[in-house]
Amino acid sequence: MNFAIEAKNLVKRFADIAAVNDISFIVKHGETFAILGENGAGKSTTMRMIACRSPLTTGELSVEGLNVKNADRRIRSLIGVVPQENNLDPDLNVRENLLVYSRYFRIHKEIAQTRCDELLEFIRLKEKANAKVEQLSGGMKRRLIIARALLHRPKILLLDEPTTGLDPNVRQEIWEKLEELRRTENLTIVLSTHYMDEAEKLAQRLIVMAHGRIVVEGVPHEIIKDKVKKFALEIREADSFNLRQTDKILSQKRGSTHLYFAKLPKI
Ligand SMILES: Nc1ncnc2c1ncn2[C@@H]1O[C@H](COP(=O)(O)OP(=O)(O)OP(=O)(O)O)[C@@H](O)[C@H]1O
Ligand SMILES: [Mg+2]
Repeated sequence: MNFAIEAKNLVKRFADIAAVNDISFIVKHGETFAILGENGAGKSTTMRMIACRSPLTTGELSVEGLNVKNADRRIRSLIGVVPQENNLDPDLNVRENLLVYSRYFRIHKEIAQTRCDELLEFIRLKEKANAKVEQLSGGMKRRLIIARALLHRPKILLLDEPTTGLDPNVRQEIWEKLEELRRTENLTIVLSTHYMDEAEKLAQRLIVMAHGRIVVEGVPHEIIKDKVKKFALEIREADSFNLRQTDKILSQKRGSTHLYFAKLPKI
């Protein structure tokens, strides 16, 4: 088995939309691989196919040398998934949210208890073990979902926008944990993100998707040098301001957030 993931001419259609439109890529063992792209680019659809949660329309896809078309059960046991939307069970406390997953993966009760303790320690949520999900901050919920995805000791961790909407300190903390996992556990990590800084910080290689296709691929710092403006300013809750436009800055509106990208930190 040469690669952790190998996709050849992958296509996913929904009626007349080609959400993923003939993409090919590989992910190497033990690397972090980022999928960048704007809303609707096809990032989540690609990740759902890798996780065997959505069948391919055409193309070939193998995970740890296994074909997604006939080895989905085995592949699911090798993959930990952090979905884009938080899907913790609000009726269960933090610890129970982990334990419920151990039953899904048929992990022996005692092993699950130990693993739970280790993971709560790792994500620094030990003090919150008995708290309800609603009592957690956004960053804590995200960390808990990452822990849940690690419970069955997967070889590959798929994270769909792990830090979107979180503040810079929390993002930094999650980045450190992911890098630690990659280094110490030799985990292969695939993450999707809107943020080039996230890809630059974590990924050894990346692809940028647009309208279901790969438009750029390569090594983050080389791509940044070539294509991306170096300075970014993010203003949250900016509804009461007009988005400023000049020819020296690229400005974008995402929900109530305004983003500005520039080559130099002045106009
Ligand atoms: N179940 C579905 N049924 C129909 N169309 C879908 C479905 N899932 C995704 N799509 C469409 O496929 C395209 C790609 O969606 P996808 O969720 O993969 O994008 P994304 O890159 O993850 O975007 P975002 O950054 O907003 O999460 C979009 O046009 C979307 O509307
Ligand atoms: Mg998505």
